[in-house]
This record gives sequence, structure tokens and C-alpha cells, in this order.
Amino acid sequence: MAVREVPAILSMAALDDAAHIPDGAPAIEPPLCVNNIQGNSLAGFNKDHQTLIFFRIDDVPKFRGWLGREVPFVATLAEVLTFNRLFKAVRFRRKAESRAVQSTWLNIVFTAQGLSKLDAAETAKFTDAAFKQGLAARSASLGDPTDPASEGFAGNWAVGGPDDKLDGMLIIAGDDVDDVAAEVRRVEDGIYGRRVAGVASAVDSGLSITYKQHGATLPPPLTGHEHFGWLDGVSQPGVRGTVSDMKDGEHLDLLTLRENPNEPGQGKPGQDCLYPGEFVFGHPAQNPDAEINVPGEMKQGGPSWSDDGSFVVFRRLRQDVGGFHAFLKKQARELGINDLELGSKFVGRWPSGSPVIVDDVHDRPDIGRDDARNNFFEFRAKPKDGTPPKDGSQADPGPSPDPDPNGVLCPFSSHIRKAYPRDDTSPNFFPSLNEPTTQTHRLLRRGIPFGPPFEDDPNDDGERGLVFIAYQTSIENQFEFVTKRWVNDPGFKEPNVGADPILGQATGTDRARTVRITYVDPEGNTTTAPVTIPQDFVVPTGGGYFFSPSIEALCGFAGVPVPPDLHRCTHPPQPATPPPAPPPHYP
Ligand code: HEM
Repeated sequence: MAVREVPAILSMAALDDAAHIPDGAPAIEPPLCVNNIQGNSLAGFNKDHQTLIFFRIDDVPKFRGWLGREVPFVATLAEVLTFNRLFKAVRFRRKAESRAVQSTWLNIVFTAQGLSKLDAAETAKFTDAAFKQGLAARSASLGDPTDPASEGFAGNWAVGGPDDKLDGMLIIAGDDVDDVAAEVRRVEDGIYGRRVAGVASAVDSGLSITYKQHGATLPPPLTGHEHFGWLDGVSQPGVRGTVSDMKDGEHLDLLTLRENPNEPGQGKPGQDCLYPGEFVFGHPAQNPDAEINVPGEMKQGGPSWSDDGSFVVFRRLRQDVGGFHAFLKKQARELGINDLELGSKFVGRWPSGSPVIVDDVHDRPDIGRDDARNNFFEFRAKPKDGTPPKDGSQADPGPSPDPDPNGVLCPFSSHIRKAYPRDDTSPNFFPSLNEPTTQTHRLLRRGIPFGPPFEDDPNDDGERGLVFIAYQTSIENQFEFVTKRWVNDPGFKEPNVGADPILGQATGTDRARTVRITYVDPEGNTTTAPVTIPQDFVVPTGGGYFFSPSIEALCGFAGVPVPPDLHRCTHPPQPATPPPAPPPHYP
């Protein structure tokens, strides 16, 4: 597989934009407690194989004992980041994928119910109502099917339905399928006892496994793509913050390398760096009322142990790949265009990852595979053209593409424009939509496909899709907001543009939805037409809302000593009474 990356180096490369810090505001690059934060949130495991193990706590004192034995195995941000830097450095120098360094990681997250068993009084202090209620209870409000006969109805889910009293989930991820299987075995042995000749020696760990979900990167030629065939994981928010006290001249050791010579607040060109409080508690978050580089309020979760923790949304989303492509072919024939062109209008990118705003008639794999260019666009204002890099850690994205304020190239309904409208505004319909408010609704996505690639086989059971995992500090204001107010709203950001054609969920039992797309017809005319999507091609078949506690919090639940040197950052005390929910941005 081609390496699609601008140079990423081991050493420090950063900016010092201290000049932008208002008096008394938190540091513009807040120190991160890299030994206290679990690694999948801010660094991302980025592994080809993953197994999720869902569990129920049966006996709390015994569970605490089990947890105490597992804490040393929980991968920290420091470990995952160090590995990711080394992996990238090797890959960059070799100009090829490499198996020179490999790792297998474990993280552990809990539902509100699971945390209540460990510390009911503090769990009650979480201010996020969605987290406390759980995903199954919120499913209908997210536009999921409400007909009990429908596969997507929460009562029919494979995992996380209303009767499935989940307490937690283990995330095991690795580069090698056998290593992941070995780690799963180690965990299971710790829960049930080692199996000898098929018989488990009794271990009373106080928990039971209720469900397992495997995920894996698809084999070539779909590596890195989701099942419909589009490259995934292209766009992620950058995260501000330092990861050590090292300094190289004026350069800080930053979590997200600054690779755009023109925009010191961006990681890769087009990747805005956000305050860490958007994704981990106990840190400053974005300020919806100021330029995006000005820090906002300290994000606090409520419980005394919520600092350095994050909320995790998990959804098991089955994809009807055959149905989606049959629909694309039929519909594209009627419009007189290519089926992948239509699909790319739905996604906002071509299968290669190349944005349709750059070219909506041809896929541009050269751009799709180039991380310096595949995110280098805005919808409303043209970014500054690239300039020659100052050093080897930076990239020249070249000339920036023209913007698309009217949704001619990239439809307002396309998945990427719905899920992240970048600098879009909507003075008449959503007056408060602007870049600073939009940056308070971002997600760190950590998903992976499940099931084999689609083959047109009559015996195919259709069991494939996306294990969607996203980290944030407000489920209500991030995952749920994006889903309800943007993705599912046919009137966002202009009337009648339609709900997201990939995800959008009509309410009730009539699942059809109509989007408006503009395309170049066979006569070469730019035409706008409604396209009706008759059914859901993405169906929720499981899910849950979780919290990823810090290492210190895990030690507290387990009653084991906290490792030394956990903190390089200080967190302000939690307020005695939870802060009021912020006012909604939109009417
Ligand atoms: C099976 C379901 C899904 C499929 C097939 C899918 C597919 C994709 C693809 C192909 C991209 C473009 C590549 C990229 O920017 O990484 C993308 C981006 C994105 N998706 Fe999804 N996605 C799914 C579910 C979801 C869900 C449930 C959400 C959240 C509500 C979501 C939110 C996003 C966001 C925020 C982006 C990045 C947009 C940007 O930054 O430009 N996706 N998705």
C-alpha cells in the first residue's frame, strides 16, 4: 500500500503562538498528563485488528481485584504516542509499510451503570444526561428505526440493547491478528481461568463476558477503506497540548505536529488543532465565541475522578453494501452519470479520499493519498495557498482549491459536510453556525470495519459494517448534536437539502429520504436534482455510551496504589455544583 503521508518525524517541531494568548487564559498548548490518559483517545491505536469484549460486573469486590491486576496492562497515551511516532518514523524512512515495530494495546471503558457499581455517589455527578441514560434509551431520538420488526430497532441489537445491561467494554487492538488473539486469551484466562484440555480452572474474577466484536482493516485493495469502498479516517481534528517538557529552541513537544507552514494552528494542512478539553476532561476546551485559537472554559465532567477521562460512543453499524451499490448504479443511470460519481457526491469525497470540492467529476488518487492535500480545503473561504516548508517536518500543500459556498461541488447533504461543516455559515437559517461554534462539535473517530469484504454471493449473510467509536467530552453536544442537528436534519444547513444520504435516519417507519445534489449532466450542463434514497443502507445493530477513566481513576476503583509520576499537569478542583448546561447554539 502506498504511504500517504507528509513527513512525520520523531523530534519536536512546533510553533510558539504565545502572542495569541489573552491575558490570564490557560496556556495555548496545555500540558497533557500522558501517563494518566488512556491511549486510544488522544493518540489513537490505529491498528489493523481489534476485538471489543463487553462485560458485566457480577461481584464488585472481586471485580476490583481483577481490575487491579489489569491496570498495568492498560495502554497509556505516553506509550501509544511513543509507539506511533516510532512507527511513522520507520515507515517514513523506508517509504513503505513495515512490520519492524508492532504492539498490542488494551483500554478499558465503563457504562454509567458499570461506574455506578464502583462509585455510585460520584457517578451521579456526571452532567451529561445522554451518558447517564445510555445509548439504547436515546436510540429513537437519534433517528434509529422505531419499528420493533426492524433490525435496527434497539430491542433487536446484537449488543447494548435495552435489556443488555452492559457495564463495560475492553478494547484490544494490535498490528497482528495472532497477537490480538493471544491478548484476548490472556484477558479471558484472567476472567475465567486458564483452560487446560478445554476445562477452565476456576477463577472468580467477578465479571462475565457478554459479547465479543472483532474488527479488522479490509484486505487490499480496500485497505484503509470502509465497506462501501471509500477511504476512511482521512479527516480528524488535531489536538493542542504538550506531551513532555522538552523544548527544541522555541519549539514545544506537541501532541499534534504542526505541518502547515502557513497556519501554525493546524496539524496537517487543513487540520485545525483544538483544545484538549473537547476530548479529555480537566483541560480547556474551544471557545465558541472567539477565534478558534482562543481557549475556552475548563471542561469538567462532574465526578472527582473524571479528569483525564473521555466519553466513548460505540455503534455497531451494519452496512448493506450490495444494496447501496445496486441503488447507486440504478440511480446514476437515470441521472446519466457514473455510479461512483454519485456515491462521491453522497460522501463528499471520492473512494480514494480526494475531496469532491477539488474535482467533482474525476477521482484524484494523487490527492486522496496525500495527507498534505486531502484535507486542504474550506467550504466558504479559500485557505491561503501553500508555501515552501520551513523544515522537513512540514509540507507544501500547493495552491488551495476554490471554496464552494453554494454546495455546487460538495452538496450540503454530503456526509462530510453534514458531519463537519468546517467554515460554513447560514445567516438565514442557522445564524450561529460558524467555525468557532462548529469546532465545539468535533469527534475523534477511532472506528474499524467488521466482517469480510463484500462479494456478490447469494450465500452472503450481510454481516459487515463499521465499528464506530468516537471520543469526546460531551455526548450531548458532540456525537448526539452532530447526529440530530446536522446529519439527520434535512433542513441543515439550508432548507430541503436533505439528510445525510450515508447515515441520515428518517424518523419513524418511512425510511426514505431525499437529498438535492448538483452535478454535471451528460450534455455538460450543471444540473440540480432531487435523489430519493429508498431505505437505510447503514443499520444500527448495537451500541453503548461509555466513559474511559484515567489510570488514576482506575487505580482508585481497584483500590491499588497510583503509579508515581502520573501527573505533569494540574487540574482545577471540580465545582461543588455542576455547571449549568451551555445554551444551545441554534434556535
Ligand atoms: C457505516 C457508517 C459510516 C460510514 C460508511 C462512514 C464513512 C465515512 C467516510 C468515507 C468519511 C470520509 C473520510 C474521512 O474524512 O475520514 C467519513 C468522515 C466522517 N464521518 Fe463517517 N461514516 C460512518 C459513520 C459515521 C457516524 C456514525 C458519524 C457520527 C455521527 C460519522 C462522522 C464522520 C465525521 C465527523 C467525518 C469527518 C468529516 C470531516 O472531518 O471532513 N460517520 N465517514
